[in-house]
Amino acid sequence: MLRRRTVLKGAGAMAASLALPGHGFAQGAGVKIGLILPMTGPFASTGRQIDAAVRLYMQKNGAEVAGRKVEVVLKDDTGTADVTRRLAQELIVNDRVNVIAGFGLTPLAMAVGPLATQAKVPAIVMAAATSSITEASPFIVRSSFTLPQVTVPLAAWGAENGIKKVVTLVTDYGPGIDAEKAFKERFTASGGEVTAELRVPLRNPDFAPFLQRAADAKPDAVFVFVPSGVGAQFMKQFVERGLDKSGIQLIATGDVTDDDILNEMGDVALGTITTHHYSAAHDSTENRAFVEAFRKANDNMRPNFMAVGGYDGMHLIYEALRKTGGGTAGEGLVNAMKGMAWQSPRGPISIDPQTRDIIQNVYVRKVERVDGELYNVEFATIANVKDPVKATKS
Ligand code: PHB
Repeated sequence: MLRRRTVLKGAGAMAASLALPGHGFAQGAGVKIGLILPMTGPFASTGRQIDAAVRLYMQKNGAEVAGRKVEVVLKDDTGTADVTRRLAQELIVNDRVNVIAGFGLTPLAMAVGPLATQAKVPAIVMAAATSSITEASPFIVRSSFTLPQVTVPLAAWGAENGIKKVVTLVTDYGPGIDAEKAFKERFTASGGEVTAELRVPLRNPDFAPFLQRAADAKPDAVFVFVPSGVGAQFMKQFVERGLDKSGIQLIATGDVTDDDILNEMGDVALGTITTHHYSAAHDSTENRAFVEAFRKANDNMRPNFMAVGGYDGMHLIYEALRKTGGGTAGEGLVNAMKGMAWQSPRGPISIDPQTRDIIQNVYVRKVERVDGELYNVEFATIANVKDPVKATKS
């Protein structure tokens, strides 16, 4: 597999390198994918998971599609939007990538929207999950999920299972605000009450004062969203504040009980009810094979929902290239992705041709101990869920 951790080069060096044989710009040239991920910084777990999944996809499916060699150029944006934008620009202008992909957080995905439109380069959002992201460019296609998509089923579950008063606690940016709004709308429509809406900063969060306020409000449940990687710290403070023993139920999106860190949380996580589109414990032939291969290739690391977003994002790119016969024109690739449907490790999925967003099952899960490890065990399925925000708009 061709794979380079590219060092930034000056324009002159870049021009010279174009002339080198095997660089990939000659006749019958390869297809280049610029993969931009937070490989360092507080959200490095997202980068690590997606990078591993992209490599696994290529290992299983080969580094060639429609007669063209596929090359992934990985760049670390450290989770900073200005860096994402600069890297995307360099990848498009200097490396002449045919597709950009990755985008670990909403502000990073939003930063590349105008560039994708201007350059007519498809941008595959493998992680970020604010509903409005796909509206930032007609060249954006999403393989991850949206927060309203996974939150509405949880609000419905809560209302149907005796929860009447809820405090919401979310990270204060796009996906958290989406989750807060979607939860309240669906929950109050069923007669539930949201008694406080708490927002915790994205950078260096301290949950303690917010958890204290949640405890003081004495709701039946606290509904939580924090981005992937932050759940363990949340859970630690949840215990430190004594909320695990307060009789207040914890309900959350699956971002909180992220498979990457769930085992670290310990028994306090047991019984937590979440809704999400992927669990490493998902019971299917595709998923068992995926988890096993992923563990084998990555020192026994367990794949999380970020990994599956990366894996399916690669499927989108490969299959679109197959459909275009290797053609890399941006509009052709995006059109080929619209309506595409397949069996993912997470279950059946498709790309909504109207919104370029993903349609997928959402599962209700409970944290249980299975063979000595903690897992999100699925016990109910809501099939073929569209992003509810865009579904009501159109
Ligand atoms: C986002 O920034 O859109 C995001 C990041 C991590 C998540 C969910 C959403 O787990």
